Amino acid sequence: MRNTLRITSLSIVLAAGAFASCAPESDPGARLWRKKCAACHGADGTGRTRFAEGRPFADLTDDRWKHGSDRASVRRLVADGDPASTMPPFAGRLTPEEIDAVVDHALKLATPGSGGAKP
Ligand code: HEC
Repeated sequence: MRNTLRITSLSIVLAAGAFASCAPESDPGARLWRKKCAACHGADGTGRTRFAEGRPFADLTDDRWKHGSDRASVRRLVADGDPASTMPPFAGRLTPEEIDAVVDHALKLATPGSGGAKP
């Protein structure tokens, strides 16, 4: 009985460890996305939030891009924002390294099969 208990708690610890190491929070881009972008774009990047209502381009997973899908264009948009919408500029609010990381995460969400939103 005691052995069973010990094995059970050991596997819980192991499972928790495995979960923590692959949880999105270990990735700075994912953490920034959750804190700075997900309120509008959703955790999965599909933009189904009340802040992005009526703004189809807030869906980053549909392969339709208003500002360009290449990394340089996406990075420029995230840094400068889009004054014609609620997409805010992040230059000055995030470091260049943080912008790089969150852009990488946004592109990951936008690319099916790369661990992003789409199966
Ligand atoms: C206050 C809401 C809001 C926040 C916060 C926000 N966005 Fe946006 N974002 C939008 C909206 C709305 C659009 C669509 C713009 C349009 O329709 O012209 C957009 C557009 C974009 C686009 C361009 C899509 C295209 O079609 O070209 C990218 C990339 C993007 N956001 C990334 C981000 C990232 C990365 C963050 C976090 C660092 C972020 N956004 C935070 C509202 C937001």
